[in-house]
Order: sequence, then structure tokens, then C-alpha cells
Amino acid sequence: TTPDAGALSKLGFTAVPKGMADQVTLAAGYSATVVYALGDPLTASAAAYKNDGTDTDYGNRGGDHHDGMEWFGLSADGQPSTSANDRGLLAINHEATTDETLSSFFLHTDGGTKTLPRPASEVDKEVAIHGVAVVEVKKTGSTWAYVQNSSFNRRVTALTEVDIGGPAKGHALLKTKYSVDGTRTRGTLNNCGTGQTPWGSFLTGEENWFGYFTRPAGDDLARGNDKSVVALKRYGRAEGAASRHGWESAGSADIYARWINAKTGTSTDGSDDYRNEMNGMGYIVEMDPYKPTSRLVKRTALGRFAHESAVFSLPKAGEKLAVYMGDDSRNEYIYKFVSDAAWAAADANPTDRLATGAKYLDSGKLYVAKFASDGTGQWIELNKAAIPSTYTTYAFADEADIRVNCRLAADAVGATKMDRPEWCATHPTSGEIYFTLTNNSNRRVSPTAGSSTQLVPDSANPRAYTDMKGTTAQQGNPNGHILRVKEAAGSAAATTFTWDIYLFGAQADADTGLINLSSLTADQDFSSPDGLKFSKSTGICWIQTDDGAYTDVTNCMMLAGIPGTVGDGAKKTLPHSTALSVDTFIGKAPTADTLKRFLVGPKDCEITGLAETPDGKTMFINIQHPGEGTKMADVADPTKYTSQWPSNAGYGAGKRPRSATIVITKNDGGRIGS
Ligand code: FEO
Ligand code: CA
Ligand code: CA
Ligand code: CA
Repeated sequence: TTPDAGALSKLGFTAVPKGMADQVTLAAGYSATVVYALGDPLTASAAAYKNDGTDTDYGNRGGDHHDGMEWFGLSADGQPSTSANDRGLLAINHEATTDETLSSFFLHTDGGTKTLPRPASEVDKEVAIHGVAVVEVKKTGSTWAYVQNSSFNRRVTALTEVDIGGPAKGHALLKTKYSVDGTRTRGTLNNCGTGQTPWGSFLTGEENWFGYFTRPAGDDLARGNDKSVVALKRYGRAEGAASRHGWESAGSADIYARWINAKTGTSTDGSDDYRNEMNGMGYIVEMDPYKPTSRLVKRTALGRFAHESAVFSLPKAGEKLAVYMGDDSRNEYIYKFVSDAAWAAADANPTDRLATGAKYLDSGKLYVAKFASDGTGQWIELNKAAIPSTYTTYAFADEADIRVNCRLAADAVGATKMDRPEWCATHPTSGEIYFTLTNNSNRRVSPTAGSSTQLVPDSANPRAYTDMKGTTAQQGNPNGHILRVKEAAGSAAATTFTWDIYLFGAQADADTGLINLSSLTADQDFSSPDGLKFSKSTGICWIQTDDGAYTDVTNCMMLAGIPGTVGDGAKKTLPHSTALSVDTFIGKAPTADTLKRFLVGPKDCEITGLAETPDGKTMFINIQHPGEGTKMADVADPTKYTSQWPSNAGYGAGKRPRSATIVITKNDGGRIGS
């Protein structure tokens, strides 16, 4: 390989120090500019963004809290291209919004209404800044910008009509007043991680959707305390719990009433009310980014939970495809879907991407991971036959019920409860799958003391400690880790695997016996890994953080790693106490050449999402919620904002902080990280 092609064996830049400046700080020799922010007009006629709370028309503007993101190339004549490096589409998740006491206060002139009922004028804006965007970006000379009047630009919001695909399509669990036959729903919500299919479509994961619904007191009784109550509680909706934004309070119209997940009708199947509305959220959703009028499809075969990214095994002709996924809540699980259909290389560039999606994603097996203390693990299939007869918490009606309520099925089979699975990523040559486990405050520091609802450490989640600052709020595993899996015989359909832990997040000055287990130095230390993606050009593993435990020292960051393989390190025993020691498996320690901090973001942001051009020379990442710590009462006083990015970087009007996409290039024109 030449220095400009193939995987790198050594990172070519100087590490960026930790820092708290309100700016994007990059490794020397690199430049970044903002290309697309909250509120940017996406049609020729949408007005320029004033960024003062008076803007409306968010269905034609950039959404908020940019998150996962994928690149879809375009040739000079506007056709899909897997080799284009200077023109393409970014499909971007708009996960959520910066809020306090119900209101997304930066969207409203005076911060908005903090009490119920919320005015429809505010709710309509808030609904529209959620969802997904497709945005054309283009390089002219050496400058990247988004194309305001591109016919590819698109916004999908929390109210856009979406199809249901897979086993739950038409099922009783999906029937609502809006879709009496259970084949459609409205919107996609809390879109967090992303994925890209081998046939060129976009996947988006619905994460914390349950918080947007409410259930009134008395709903348990109205349902006759039937099994739907068990399912609602397992997915985070206890009777009487308030919704995050109070959208249900904005009026009696159906677009507001749908957020009340209650039995109010008299039908037996729910087709006359919104008792089943929550069953329409929580999926991996497929979109064809090249066809702006095509409907999105919820792929219910992949299970319903707090989805992050969805990544594929390396496609091999004639073999099934696997899709790996994490459920991001404390003590939730890691899942794998295996297609019934074997991969046909001719499907790599189909005319109908969503039909190809149906072929590979609507029928297949769903598995959940169970990790053993000897460095092996099992994928346990979730189906009716696998549910032990001793499990009586919930009676699954059929296989579709297993997919819709797969958290309950995973409980029933005794899968391993993890330290909050965020993104996963597939190594571009080895095919090993990496999973970020961001942190877990609900694991016992002492196996012999503390709440019995807290788990003790296990081999795959082996740490529990009180952080360096001694705050009990950050006990457990406050810094997170990155686990990786190698399938038996390298097969996507394998039911056994081996695993180890690539990296443990930690402060460099923490004890290397129980906390800083990867011996991170000051140039490498991080906390709470979240976004994760490999470059197909350089092979670099890009690690992005969403941290609360180390933010007194540094803003969130992105690091570059060149990992080895599962099993290249050693077994280590962690002596938590005389009552409990845990064996774990730690990958080979990084060196100064194989792990470095590349970027530090502005204040109060999370770094997330990564898309690169095929040549590895242009990278897009997202700066999510800068200034999130600002108080609603200070919305009129920019001097009190905790961040003024990106206006302080010269982008756009007003001083209110905005989530945004930045583009990174190397000043000498080389590949990012080389
Ligand atoms: Fe939206 Fe789990 O991060
Ligand atoms: Ca995330
Ligand atoms: Ca996170
Ligand atoms: Ca966030």
C-alpha cells in the first residue's frame, strides 16, 4: 500500500489536549467549517434563519440535535454514486431538542410555555425539529456548502406518514384510529444512531421515544390491567407519568391526542383510539435517501427498543446478512438480526432500494447476546420456543409480539444486562463488531452493599467504582468501555462468539488496577464513548464521546484508534472485594501511535455522527446541543449562554447556540487521520 491508500498502521497527527474552549479544536494541519445547522432553510422559498425565536416553518428547515449521519454520493449528473467525493447527500438524524420544563426554549422568543397546556404554535415547531433530514452538500473549489434549493433535500418529522414493514405489519398490536389495519403510523422520533445498508439505503434508530407519550391515571384499570400494561411499564411508561414536552396538551386534534397512549375506545383491538400508538415507535427505520417522496419503512423484524446504530456484517455472496444493534438504557441488551435471505451481489445497486430492504430486513431471526466469564458468548434466538415455561411475566401471543416486546423476551431468556449499549461499528477488514457501552450509574460499587436493584459487575461489564471526584452520582461505571465481538468462523449467522474489551474509558490519572485498565495517557483519555465508526479508507476507529463525568476537565471529543483484534490482549482479574472478583479480557493496550485525541468540541456539546467521502479526505461530523446547560430564564441574554457556537465561529445570525454539521479536511489534501 502507498501512504495514501489502504489502512494506516500509525496515526499521523499530534494529539489535541483536553480543553474547555467554546470552539471546535482540531489536530494541527486540519480545518473545519460549519455546513448545516438548526434552522437552515432547505427549500428555495424558506426564509433565512433569524435565530431569535421568531422563526417558523421548521418542516422546511434543518432540525435540532444533529446525531447519526451517513454519506450517499452523487455523480456530477445527479445519479447515485459510490465513488463520488465532491457531491453527495447527508442523511442526518435530528434526535431531540434543548429543553427545560417542557419547552424547547431556544425555539421560542421568550423561552416558551413551561406549563400545561402548551400552545399549538410552540408544539408545532417542536414536533417539526425532530426526525430526519436529507441535505445535499457540494464542494465548489475547495469549499463545502449545503445546497439550499436541491430537489433531494427532505425533512421527515414526528408526524410524517411512515409504513410498517415486517412481522408486526397489520398485527393487532399496531392497530390505531389512524391506521385501523395496522400498516402505517406517523413519524419517526428520537433518531439517534444510523446505519447504511449494502444496497445503498439509510437506517435510523428510534431511541428515547417513550418519553414523548403520556398515560393518564386510570389507564391501567381501563385496560383491565391486561398484558399491555406490563409491556408499557417495561418500555418506560407508567400510568400518570408526564410526557417530556406536553405535546398532547396542545389541542383535541388527533395530531396532539395521539401522544396520549390510553385506552379510551370500546373496540377490542384498539382501532378506535391510541392505546397502541407507542407500539408504532422504537424501530430501525429504512429510508431511500435518493427518492425524496418515498415513504420510510419501520423494519419491525429487528425488534423494538431504544435503538442506536444498526451495522451489517461484511456482506459475503451466498451468505446471510447480520445486523448488530444496541438498546441504550441502563442494563439493557445487545441484539443481532440475521436475514433469511442470502446476500446476492446484484442487490448492491438496485432500482428499488426499499423492495431490497424488504427482502433482507423483513424476515429473519432475532438474537440477544449472553456473555460468559471465559471470553466466549452466545447469541440466543428470541422466539416463542425459547421462552421458558417458568417465565410468567408476559404471555407472548406470537412471533410478532416477541419482536414488538423483545425486551421482555430478552429478560425471559436471561441475556446479559449491559452498561448502556450505544453505537456499534463493523471493522472494515476483520468484520469484528465493536460496541460502545457508554456508562452505567446503576451498578454496585460494592457487591456486598448498596441497593439490590443495582447489578454487580460481570465479565463483560466488569467495572464499578466511585469516580475520581468522589461523587456518588457517578458511581458504577461512569466512564464506559468499548467491547468487541468476533463471530465463530467469521460467520454472520454464528450462534457463538468470542469477545474482549478494546478500551476502557478513564481519566489518565486514575488507578490502573481497577479503573484505568487500558492505561490511557493524557493524550488518549476519555469518558463515555457513544458514536463509533470505522473509516473504510484508513481503517481508523473513530470514537466520539457524550460525557457527563469528565466535563469539569474537558468538553466532549473525538479520538482516532487503530485497534488490533479480539484476543490480542490478556485475561485480567479485578478484585472488587473478598466476596467478588471478576475475570475480564482486555485488548492489547494502545500506544501513542494507535490512540489519540483528534478533536475537542465546544461547550456543553456531544460529538456524534460521522460520514466520510470514499477517498477518506472529507469527513462530516455533528456537534449536538452546544450550550445545552443554558438556563431557560437566560434565553434573552446571550452573555449567559454556556455556548455561543456556531455564531462565534462566524456561522449564521443570532447568538443562540445551534446544533450543526461540520466538515473536516486536511490542509495538505490528505486523508483524515493520516
Ligand atoms: Fe441518543 Fe443513546 O444516544
Ligand atoms: Ca448516542
Ligand atoms: Ca449518549
Ligand atoms: Ca445528546
